[in-house]
Amino acid sequence: MRVTIYGCGYVGLVTGACLAHVGNRVLMVDVDAERVARLRRGELPIYEPGLDDLVAEAAAGGRIAFTTDADEAVAHAEVQFIAVGTPPDEDGSADLRHVLEVARTIAERMDGYRLIVNKSTVPVGTADRVRETVREVLAARGLELDFDVISNPEFLKEGAAVEDFMKPDRIIVGCEREDSAERMRELYAPFNRNHDRLLVMDTRSAELTKYAANAMLATKISFMNELANLAERVGADIERVRVGIGSDPRIGYHFIYPGCGYGGSCFPKDVKALIRTAEEAGHDARILRAVDGVNERQKRRLFEKIRDHFGGRLAGRTLALWGLAFKPNTDDMREAPSRTLMEALWAAGARVRAHDPVAMAEARRLYGGRDDLVLCADPMEALEGADALAVVTEWHLFRSPDFDAVKARLRRPVIFDGRNLYDPARLAALGFTYYGIGRGT
Ligand code: UGA
Repeated sequence: MRVTIYGCGYVGLVTGACLAHVGNRVLMVDVDAERVARLRRGELPIYEPGLDDLVAEAAAGGRIAFTTDADEAVAHAEVQFIAVGTPPDEDGSADLRHVLEVARTIAERMDGYRLIVNKSTVPVGTADRVRETVREVLAARGLELDFDVISNPEFLKEGAAVEDFMKPDRIIVGCEREDSAERMRELYAPFNRNHDRLLVMDTRSAELTKYAANAMLATKISFMNELANLAERVGADIERVRVGIGSDPRIGYHFIYPGCGYGGSCFPKDVKALIRTAEEAGHDARILRAVDGVNERQKRRLFEKIRDHFGGRLAGRTLALWGLAFKPNTDDMREAPSRTLMEALWAAGARVRAHDPVAMAEARRLYGGRDDLVLCADPMEALEGADALAVVTEWHLFRSPDFDAVKARLRRPVIFDGRNLYDPARLAALGFTYYGIGRGT
């Protein structure tokens, strides 16, 4: 099948590369000429395991190409995916400017049937707005062409996106027309093997499903962080509680890890956007507001522990930070707890020495030039002369360090473990002062 995808960002590139991998002819479109030029040279704007190989292989086979040319994009295929960004507006609602811009781009140029598939994360009702936009432009052109607009939200996890696309838990297709559903069945057939994972529903339910999934996962995390804070006050260990409740299959072990808060480009944005959607619909989404509030508070927990340990005197101190990305296997630092921590430390007059296995360039882009941040090429180097270590991201590399070497480099053997990676008893035996999340300390 021929497919056009607007947006060479995270979702667009993964979708395009995977669809090309199974034999489709994919044209990727972006308004950013610099980005397109780099992609043509094989340089990806994001770090995602396995993606560069897929793109290179598809490009070599002539199954994926990159363009800024809208005429070529609309002419290339009947199936047109929208995978552009929906950044949060000032009030937290999703900004649909780019999505509607693509709708206009298509409508201004189409000369026959087109199936417009929305993959961007968009509020309920967006497919209707896209449909309306296309209809208006076509009417202005004096044309009556057949088209459909459907919702096909993505459920990719950063760091595992290729795997998630190739072996999806579910493929959600929100549409009202049988021929549109059929086309999606055909396109997704290579990824929909063994048992049928493709769920067809109305567009509004599909749009809400995307937000509901992320909001439910964020709720699990905030719930556990709430209990972690309680565990600290009552002298319980949240890690024991986690295992204790996870063994009930109705609760499950997934996504109940307490920590220093959720970050990334999805959970914080999507929870806020869903709160806005609820407000607009005249509904007070109390649980969602609490989920968001608990997370904002949790992102400050590590700083509070550090501040309290040093009796509020942080000026002139140096903190070593392990982990800058919002989670392992990505260089993404959007809404990362590391940023909340660093910014609070700097505001209190402390300095930071940080290491991350892949997010160093991103950290340089965000904070380069600050003299209170030293980016260190190696985790051990980050410890040199620091007053304590704070672990913010659970990279494998940080799971089992040589604690004697850690101790030798730190000025004081103090560890703030924002992801509960270490055994408190073992660290105490090694002479460390240890602070975890929700572990009675
Ligand atoms: C999330 C969802 O997991 C995907 O299913 C969804 O497709 C994606 O958003 C999206 O909407 O695009 P992602 O943001 O890549 O994926 O990252 P997650 O692995 O979900 O982690 C989110 C945050 O929650 C991270 O900061 C992580 O450290 C934190 N987390 C996760 C916890 O604090 N505890 C947990 O138990 C799990």
